[in-house]
Amino acid sequence: MQLIKLDATDSTNGYLKDLLRTQFVEDFTIVVTSNQKKGRGQLGRDWLSEPGKNLTISVLKHFKALDITHQFILNIASSLAVYLTLKHYAIPDLQVKWPNDIMSGDKKICGILVENMVKGQRITSSVIGIGLNINQTNFGESLRATSMQLLLGKELDIDRVMDTLVKEMAQSFGKIETTPISEAKELYASKLFRRHTVSRFMGLDQNEFRGTIQGINNSGLLLVETENGRQKEFRHNEIRLLY
Ligand code: BTN
Repeated sequence: MQLIKLDATDSTNGYLKDLLRTQFVEDFTIVVTSNQKKGRGQLGRDWLSEPGKNLTISVLKHFKALDITHQFILNIASSLAVYLTLKHYAIPDLQVKWPNDIMSGDKKICGILVENMVKGQRITSSVIGIGLNINQTNFGESLRATSMQLLLGKELDIDRVMDTLVKEMAQSFGKIETTPISEAKELYASKLFRRHTVSRFMGLDQNEFRGTIQGINNSGLLLVETENGRQKEFRHNEIRLLY
């Protein structure tokens, strides 16, 4: 494992991807910064993090033979690693909001951005970026976010949380090639936020509808049973859970 600690960078994911373009980078290289200035989130959003308060970290994983159709296993492995890290710190009411937001109650405590390098049908490498809210206490109401400090009522040592997370990531990714996908999928589905609960959603047509999350299909698409009893599959950009 190689650890690259940066005082500041635009994005740890961006830094690792730039490095990969110019040189060989060892498996499980980690880039971390205490000041990420242009953090990137899912669906082209920004990821804001107060300098010195949170963990902003990216992990590089190489794969020998990971078929593109199995890419959701990366979301599963990283979500479960963060979940177990937070469980270790006794963060209450943990769940995974599909595809990979980690929630405590109805507030987001961690976001994950998985970016894959693909050759033909194979994922050759992945950069897994994790933004974990640790000691930040102001988020603004509209963000519906929380942090470890807000939930535990004390300041935490960011490096120690990082050590726990890195160990969990190593374990979780070590298991990818040996755990049957169906098993990993079921474990992940059992942690899903608002599973088996009627929820409101917004579709691509901007119309609201009601439905119940059932789980994920083999490609990681979200399975929702709609009010007329039909089961539908959704991609990330096709549906928004309103809660
Ligand atoms: C999301 O919830 O939208 C995903 C957020 C991912 C943020 C992390 S912070 C470290 C890494 N570097 C980035 O630019 N983004 C990810």
